[in-house]
Amino acid sequence: MSTNQLDTKSQAWSALFSEPMSDLVKRYTASVFFDKRLWRADIQGSLAHADMLHAQGLISAADWASIEKGMAQITQEIEAGNFEWKLDLEDVHLNIEARLTTLVGDAGKRLHTGRSRNDQVATDVRLWLRGEVDEIGVLLTELQKALVAVAEQNAETILPGFTHLQVAQPVSFGHHLLAYVEMFARDAERLVDLHKRINRLPLGSAALAGTSYPLDRERVARTLGMVDEAGQPAVTQNSLDAVSDRDFAIEFTAAASLVMVHISRFSEELILWMSQSFGFIDLADRFCTGSSIMPQKKNPDVPELARGKTGRVVGHLMGLITLMKGQPLAYNKDNQEDKEPLFDTVDTLKDTLRIFAEMAGGITVKPEAMERAAKKGYATATDLADYLVKKGLPFRDAHEVVAHAVKDAIAAGVDLPELSLDKLQTYNPAIDQDVFEVLSLRGSLNARNLLGGTAPTQVRSQVARHRARLG
Ligand code: ARG
Repeated sequence: MSTNQLDTKSQAWSALFSEPMSDLVKRYTASVFFDKRLWRADIQGSLAHADMLHAQGLISAADWASIEKGMAQITQEIEAGNFEWKLDLEDVHLNIEARLTTLVGDAGKRLHTGRSRNDQVATDVRLWLRGEVDEIGVLLTELQKALVAVAEQNAETILPGFTHLQVAQPVSFGHHLLAYVEMFARDAERLVDLHKRINRLPLGSAALAGTSYPLDRERVARTLGMVDEAGQPAVTQNSLDAVSDRDFAIEFTAAASLVMVHISRFSEELILWMSQSFGFIDLADRFCTGSSIMPQKKNPDVPELARGKTGRVVGHLMGLITLMKGQPLAYNKDNQEDKEPLFDTVDTLKDTLRIFAEMAGGITVKPEAMERAAKKGYATATDLADYLVKKGLPFRDAHEVVAHAVKDAIAAGVDLPELSLDKLQTYNPAIDQDVFEVLSLRGSLNARNLLGGTAPTQVRSQVARHRARLG
C-alpha cells in the first residue's frame, strides 16, 4: 500500500483497485463541489475527535498539537479562498484530511483512528443543520414581530372575512395577520423540538458496527455541544442506525415545507389583496416589478415567487423521503444525495423569511376598500340571527328569518342596515331600534369579544401576548 495515499492522485482505498476510476464516474460519485459547504463542521468534528483520541492516549500530545495547528491553517486557507478543492479527493472529508496530512504528516494520518466517513458525514450534517435551524428560528421571530406590529396598527381595521372566498363576517385585519403569527409560532416550536433530535452525536459508530478503540463518545459530544436538555451528552445509541439515519433531515425539510406552505398561503392573500378587484393593500415598489409591455402593471413578484418556491421545498421533502425508502441498513452512498436538497431548503427558507419580514413591515393598508368590500356581502347577517336568539328565538328559526331578510335586501339592492325598522319588523316584531348597532360592521366586530375572537380588544391583548413571547 502506498505510504502517502491521500495526497497522491489515488484514492483512499486504492491498493485494492487495478484500474483508475473513469472521469465520468469520478464526477458522478464526487460530492466535493457541494459538500465543501460543510467544511467548518467537518473541521469542528475532527478537532473534537482528535482531542478525545489524545485524552484516551490513542494519539500523542505532539500529534494532537500538529492536528490543531494543521486545522488552523486549513481554516485560514479556506476562509481566504486559497484552499484547493480536488475532485479526485471526492468529498469535503477526504479533501481536508489529505491537506492535513500534507501539512503535518503522520499526525494527519492518525486522525481517522476509530472513525469512518460514515459517522463523520452524519456528524457534520447534524452540526451544520443545528446552526442553520437556530438561524431560521431567529428569522421566524423577526417575521412574527413584523406581523405583530402591522396587526397592532390594524386592530380596528375592518376586513371582510371569507369562507369559500365568499364574504362571511367582518374581521379585524389585525386579527387576520395574527392568524399567520400563530402559524409561524408553531413552525418555530417544531424547529425547537427537532433541534433535540438533530443535536446527537454519531461519531463512535465508525463504519457501521462501532469500533474496537476505547473512544470516549461523551467527551466528544460535550466538546461539540451535543447535549440534551439536562446538559447530559447526547450520543446516538445504535451504530447501524446512527450512520444511516437521515430522519432528522427529513423532519427538518418537513418542518421547512410547512413554513413555506404558511408563507405560500400568505402570499396568495397578498396577491389577491393587491389585485385591482380587491385593492385592499399595496406592497412597496421594491418587492414588485413592472411589465415590459403593459406600462400600467405592478406585479407582486415576491409573493408569487415565494408561492412558487414552496413547490421547490416540498419537492425536496419528497426527494429526501424517497431517498430513504428503499435503503437497507446501514450506510449507503444514496445518502450523499441528502445534501443538495437540504442546502437548497435552508437557503430558500432563509431568503424567503428575510424578505417577508421586510415586506410585511411595509404593507400599505387601504381600510376604505376593505370596508367597502365587507359591506357588499351581508357580512352581518349572522349578527342579526344572534340578535333574534337573544330576543328568545331558537337559532334555527332565527337563521330562517334572516335568510328571508337577506333575500329581500338582495332583491332591493341594499345592505341589511339599509332596510327600515318597519321593514325589519315584518320579519320579526321583536326587532327594535338597537338592531342597527348590531347590523353595523363595527358592532359585529366588537361583539366577538371572547378569547380567540376578532374584537379589537382581543386583538390588542393577543398583540401584548405575542410581544411578551417574542421579546
Ligand atoms: N460523501 C459521502 C456522503 O456524503 C461521505 C460518506 C462516504 N462513505 C462511504 N462509505 N463512501 O455520504
